[in-house]
Amino acid sequence: MRIFPNPGVGAEARGVDLARLNVTGFEAIYRAWLEHSVLLFRDQRLTDAQLIALSRRFGELDLAPVQETGRRFVEGLPEVYVVSNVVENGRPIGSLGSGEAAWHTDMSYLEYPPIASILYALEVPPAGGDTAFVNMYSVYEALPERLRRSIRGLRVKHDGTYNSGGYAREGVVVSDDPRESPGTLHPLVCTHPETGRRVLYLGRRRNAYLEGFDLAVSDALLDELWAYVDRAEFTWRNRWRAGDLVLWDNRCTMHRRDPFDPSSRRVMHRTQIKGRERPAA
Ligand code: OGA
Ligand code: MN
Repeated sequence: MRIFPNPGVGAEARGVDLARLNVTGFEAIYRAWLEHSVLLFRDQRLTDAQLIALSRRFGELDLAPVQETGRRFVEGLPEVYVVSNVVENGRPIGSLGSGEAAWHTDMSYLEYPPIASILYALEVPPAGGDTAFVNMYSVYEALPERLRRSIRGLRVKHDGTYNSGGYAREGVVVSDDPRESPGTLHPLVCTHPETGRRVLYLGRRRNAYLEGFDLAVSDALLDELWAYVDRAEFTWRNRWRAGDLVLWDNRCTMHRRDPFDPSSRRVMHRTQIKGRERPAA
């Protein structure tokens, strides 16, 4: 395996067949993943069973989240979440449609958010639908000292109302008042449990709320922090090819997706690795 780091975040790992990975190979990938936070593997050929087996090496898996249609998962494959705009027999086969997905980290409204997600591209549109990642270590390190001091010890509510496509999650009572909406409070600055490095843990902007503040003050401070997120020097985007597999660390990155032409097909299979600890300062 050879590792080619991207400038902003992540790296491409070449010379790896993820369907045939021995223990040493897996350990090298694990170390590279902790170091670079996002890894891209191109030209993979995995069955769903192989995708699940690979994912399990990182830890126990979450069952796929409920899709927007209320459907839970693919028949017989409870660990696989389908991200797709394809409609078959009048029913979407997956989630997130073809629109933009705003910056987020996966399911951080849980008390124990998943540590990692793996997204494997089966069919990709000819243009659009790129996924971008941002390095939240770099975002934290870029904050001026004054701002870092002013956020010390704060907790932020990670909204549980909407998924990253902006669709309301199954079974929630929709509220657009971030003080009332369902969600979980996590420290705004967290320490990554494996690397020991600090990150700004934002989760997602919609319905976010800084505990104990007036809403306007919370919004202003959050907007100031979010202004650091789009900086090109902290980001990297993947122009997907079929056979790409991207593994990311939800604890220290966020991701977003560009919209694409709804008449083209995009089919991705995703797994997520269960978190065992609460994000902690
Ligand atoms: C996800 C996600 C974006 C994409 O699977 O968690 O945000 O590019 N996907 O499909
Ligand atoms: Mn996501």
